[in-house]
Amino acid sequence: MLPGLSACGGPAREQESKGPGYDELASMIGRERADILWYASFAPSSHNVQPWTVTIKGPDNWVIGSAEDRWLTEIDPKNHEMLLSIGAFLENLVTAARAYGFQMKVRSVAGNPFYHELVALQFQSGERVEYPLQRLLERRTMRTGFRSEDIDPADFSFLVGREDGFHYYPRASTQAVWLGEATVAATEQQVTRENVQEELSRWIRWSDADARKYRNGLTPDTMDITGLAGWYVRNFYGEGDVLGKDFRRATIERAKQQVAESGGWIVLTSEDDRINSLIETGRRFERMFLKAKDRSIGIHPMSQVLQEKLWSERAAQALMLEKSPQLLLRVGYVRDYPSPVSLRMPLDEITKVKERRLL
Ligand SMILES: Cc1cc2nc3c(=O)[nH]c(=O)nc-3n(C[C@H](O)[C@H](O)[C@H](O)COP(=O)(O)O)c2cc1C
Repeated sequence: MLPGLSACGGPAREQESKGPGYDELASMIGRERADILWYASFAPSSHNVQPWTVTIKGPDNWVIGSAEDRWLTEIDPKNHEMLLSIGAFLENLVTAARAYGFQMKVRSVAGNPFYHELVALQFQSGERVEYPLQRLLERRTMRTGFRSEDIDPADFSFLVGREDGFHYYPRASTQAVWLGEATVAATEQQVTRENVQEELSRWIRWSDADARKYRNGLTPDTMDITGLAGWYVRNFYGEGDVLGKDFRRATIERAKQQVAESGGWIVLTSEDDRINSLIETGRRFERMFLKAKDRSIGIHPMSQVLQEKLWSERAAQALMLEKSPQLLLRVGYVRDYPSPVSLRMPLDEITKVKERRLL
């Protein structure tokens, strides 16, 4: 090991300091509202692109939108995953707001998924609702360490409550076996698509310097490339390596290893493909995800099947579902639940304050 280089991991989250931009934002909109935004920012998103923007038109009038330069046009050409991520962000935001004693009026303002403004929010005072906000900070995507044991029905019901659209397939079920095989086959197909690999390469932050600079995208830590291998790629890998044969082969191998360990799959469907339905599905997804750690259940979205046309067309039939599957989640009890490792952009980079004079 070279002196000064650590093998143990890349840059950590800044959960204590709340990051650059927080103090200035808090001086304009107050600490409570700044905190609500900060909590919201820990939502999950495809490739960790964090597609959300927040325009603060007045202290009580915000608009959630999405930034075009954070759209994944190759794997998500219809912006459906983007809307699911926005839904997760909205869920975090509304949950944090309730805990601070605000009720949120939520109104969709988008005509199609490519509008830059998506959801208008209005703060109203309400009852403070007790909620362990720590859950928002501790939620994380798990990719390794799943035990091969079915999810207990009581735990599944704890996760989803009375919410619609969640389907659990135990690991030996026909559907779970199909999902595992289809995920590997879809991955094999996906790594041959040049544009997809190029898009991915733009969202991997191999070096610690890039991870710190962008604070979004995937890092070796989030891809579970740790230890000496992590140190090696953090110091010697770059964008071009994602386009090489070795990386493509390793991607397929990783998918095979991942699907081999699981306690089954949870599939989440939506009513239809309309904007409101997708945002609402993202909210349901996040509500479930936030409870998973309480029962030591790891959640790993694996979207390859839905991203590859050939496989997505077969999915609803193979899974015998009447409605469209929107999220395919490999799930399982995990031995450890380490702290999250994915980074978040500073609040001042996702927020635009329209009229400083009003605040
Ligand atoms: C709609 C959606 C699709 C996702 N698809 C995948 C996927 O196919 N493979 C994967 O490893 N992670 C997937 N993720 C997880 C993200 O990579 C993860 O949320 C992001 O890196 C931030 O990490 P965190 O969830 O630990 O905060 C997906 C997340 C969302 C919201």
